[in-house]
Amino acid sequence: MSRGLFITLEGGDGSGKTTQAELLRDWLDGLGREVVRTREPGGTEVGVEVREIVLHHRGDISPRAEALLYAADRAHHVATLVRPALERGAVVLQDRYIDSSVAYQGAGRVLDSREVRALSEWATEDLAPDLTVLLDLDPETARGRLDASRTRYDRLEAEASEFHRRVREAYLAIAAAEPERVVVVDAAQPAEQIAAELRARIEPLL
Ligand code: TYD
Repeated sequence: MSRGLFITLEGGDGSGKTTQAELLRDWLDGLGREVVRTREPGGTEVGVEVREIVLHHRGDISPRAEALLYAADRAHHVATLVRPALERGAVVLQDRYIDSSVAYQGAGRVLDSREVRALSEWATEDLAPDLTVLLDLDPETARGRLDASRTRYDRLEAEASEFHRRVREAYLAIAAAEPERVVVVDAAQPAEQIAAELRARIEPLL
């Protein structure tokens, strides 16, 4: 049984997850909560190695192998970092989780979404977030933001706009199916406005 709070941030590349996670961390720090900021892929030492493969391998990785690599990163991350933190009572603020696999490997790579989800549920022994923030942004706007900040794209970012459109649709479908867990935020708004909306949503859960 966990006593902490597990919050995940989801959205396309360039939707502003990192900015929001940092603003939330500062706020929660100020309230005196232990905050664990982490991410997938790459929240552990093993995960950093897996991240290097999935994001920077030169050449193809088959869709099922890609799904398994993300699930392997997730299994180790949950077992060694996320669960222990929740058991201590910490607030875990995490960039990306199972919904990323359902959106990117399911809708993006066109694998069966239920199978992709089931794989991650097995990997994590069914650890579900208490709240998921979906930063929703039109992929064209997101691409413009990325262009301004990147010198090179990773394997997923480099996918065609059609891929990113499917990812967005998949995220919105997840949010529609689980409205009690997923809060959808218009990521085109100013960062501070989004942060205020999120604080109001999270405060009652603390
Ligand atoms: P991210 O760390 O958000 O990228 P960056 O640090 O460059 O902003 O995510 C890395 C990429 O991995 C991102 O394009 C989404 C992808 N991804 C998946 O395809 N499936 C997954 O399960 C996860 C966690 C991420």
